[in-house]
Amino acid sequence: MSETSPKLRAELEGIPTYKPGRPAAADGPVAYKLSSNENPYPPLPGVLEAVAATAASFNRYPDMACTGLMNELAERFGVPVSHLATGTGSVGVAQQLLQATAGPGDEVIYAWRSFEAYPIITQISGATSVRVPLTPGEAHDLDAMADAVTDRTRLIFVCNPNNPTGTVVRRAELERFLDRVPGEVLVVLDEAYREFIRDPRVPDGVELYRERPNVAVLRTFSKAYGLAGLRVGFAIAHEPVAAALRKTAVPFGVSQIAQDAAVASLRAEDALLGRVGSLVGERTRVVDGLRAQGWTVPESQANFVWLRLGERTGAFAEACQRAGVVVRPFAGEGVRVTVGEGEANDILLKVAEGFRKEL
Ligand SMILES: Cc1ncc(COP(=O)(O)O)c(C=O)c1O
Repeated sequence: MSETSPKLRAELEGIPTYKPGRPAAADGPVAYKLSSNENPYPPLPGVLEAVAATAASFNRYPDMACTGLMNELAERFGVPVSHLATGTGSVGVAQQLLQATAGPGDEVIYAWRSFEAYPIITQISGATSVRVPLTPGEAHDLDAMADAVTDRTRLIFVCNPNNPTGTVVRRAELERFLDRVPGEVLVVLDEAYREFIRDPRVPDGVELYRERPNVAVLRTFSKAYGLAGLRVGFAIAHEPVAAALRKTAVPFGVSQIAQDAAVASLRAEDALLGRVGSLVGERTRVVDGLRAQGWTVPESQANFVWLRLGERTGAFAEACQRAGVVVRPFAGEGVRVTVGEGEANDILLKVAEGFRKEL
């Protein structure tokens, strides 16, 4: 065999691999997966039936234009179909946004720590990441992010609420920030956890997009809607951004099953809201419980909570694992724990209490 191998792009060197949340262990006591911000509930009523009907014809390619889903979304959000683009999860759409805007020599700004796909997809595009540290309160530092804009900035991610800290940016500060960002720079409001927000001061990105051609909103069916395994997300953006997203899409990337499940989920909104409400209730219980034990927990508007454990991160994650819940450690920084089933949250609270006593 020849010693030479195909030349690969230099940008790929050193790209951190995306670390999925660990699955729940197959052995051991009960095991709950609280490591990927998934929805613990099974599909919404009507969704399995819709998917089963579609499954009978998966010898066919899906509808490439996602017509049914696009029409449903256009009506729901009051936007033209031409302002919508779907993709393989919202991370797929985020990657298309980078393909459309940034390459070598360009800069992409995001808060750090934030969603771990941002550095990966930025590096793949060849652009340079500009990471702006979170405030001591674990929130976006929007003033510092606006200060970081240069002639080379092409895209800025604002993750609202922020993964993994759960913190939000509110209307006044976000509008002030948007006023400072030049119109040629695309601001992506990543609202993967939008449905879990209860703070009325947090703006709906779709309202901000209406007045601002350089704002794109990312949403997903993976979290509140419980379709993480089907990979479907979407963006709402003005032309020409939405058109660029359609150009960069992988042809037939969103399966027919995913499209039909998304439509059925949108139509099961009452059930969805009930489930989201229960998870929000559990979130309050978990945050209050942890605080009562003496933990500092940033207020979360998402379906997870953040514990900044520093060097004790690994030990805490292991203690959780032994007790039957799998959490998401970020080595040396902290642990993100998804709000799950009541029993799973009980186990977390118990482990946290024991851990606290040992400190
Ligand atoms: C902030 C944020 N954006 C986007 C995503 C991507 O989700 P999906 O690709 O499943 O839509 C995630 C998933 O964890 C996330 O946390």
